[in-house]
Amino acid sequence: MKQEDLLFYGEFAPKLEEIRQLLLTEIQSILDSLSTDSETAVAEHIKCRIKSADSLKEKLRRTGLEEKAESGLRNLSDLVGARVITHFIGDIYTVLDLIKNNSKWQVKNVKDYIADMKPNGYRSLHVILTVPFGVGDIDTIDVEIQLRTIAMDCWASLEHQLKYKKNIQNTTLIVDELKRCADEMASTDLTLQTIRDLIQRG
Ligand code: GTP
Ligand code: MG
Repeated sequence: MKQEDLLFYGEFAPKLEEIRQLLLTEIQSILDSLSTDSETAVAEHIKCRIKSADSLKEKLRRTGLEEKAESGLRNLSDLVGARVITHFIGDIYTVLDLIKNNSKWQVKNVKDYIADMKPNGYRSLHVILTVPFGVGDIDTIDVEIQLRTIAMDCWASLEHQLKYKKNIQNTTLIVDELKRCADEMASTDLTLQTIRDLIQRG
């Protein structure tokens, strides 16, 4: 963690780092249980981060919560977040089943923005987990794992990049074109899944 993040998270920082490591280790062992061979690996990459103090403060302000780490820990679910980028759509649900069966946490909620995409075209599967915390009187916190294919991640990164550029009017044209890109990529994901199924069937 950066110095400013350590300062903001204070007494909670070591435990947050521990939870970040737990997520990384458990997800890695789930992925290893599916394949240890890089040729057939389910995930293209994974990452796990603790929300920066700046971004947390901004979100607390935006949601009308007190700008303190404790308020984030009690009310938000993405102070610790992991992202698993898979090659194929089917892999997402295979990993989800193993996440559900892990005793290190409790699955609180699954938001399937693949079956039910956001109106702008955003697709991903979000899993909210409850994990033990035990610092002060905070017994548990919620964390988020996002699962997406390479194509979904590609779109989300570019959309994020565009959204944060200043002076871009959110015209219907831009919204429509971005949505069209998302739909085209989703269609490609389905085709690639079909090709894989055909190859695996031999
Ligand atoms: P926030 O959107 O984070 O305030 O919380 P929420 O409870 O509405 O959760 P949601 O599941 O909608 O989104 C959580 C996270 O998913 C975000 O922080 C982003 O990482 C990602 N996400 C959701 N919607 C979008 C989107 O339209 N575009 C991109 N690029 N990412 C998104
Ligand atoms: Mg949202």
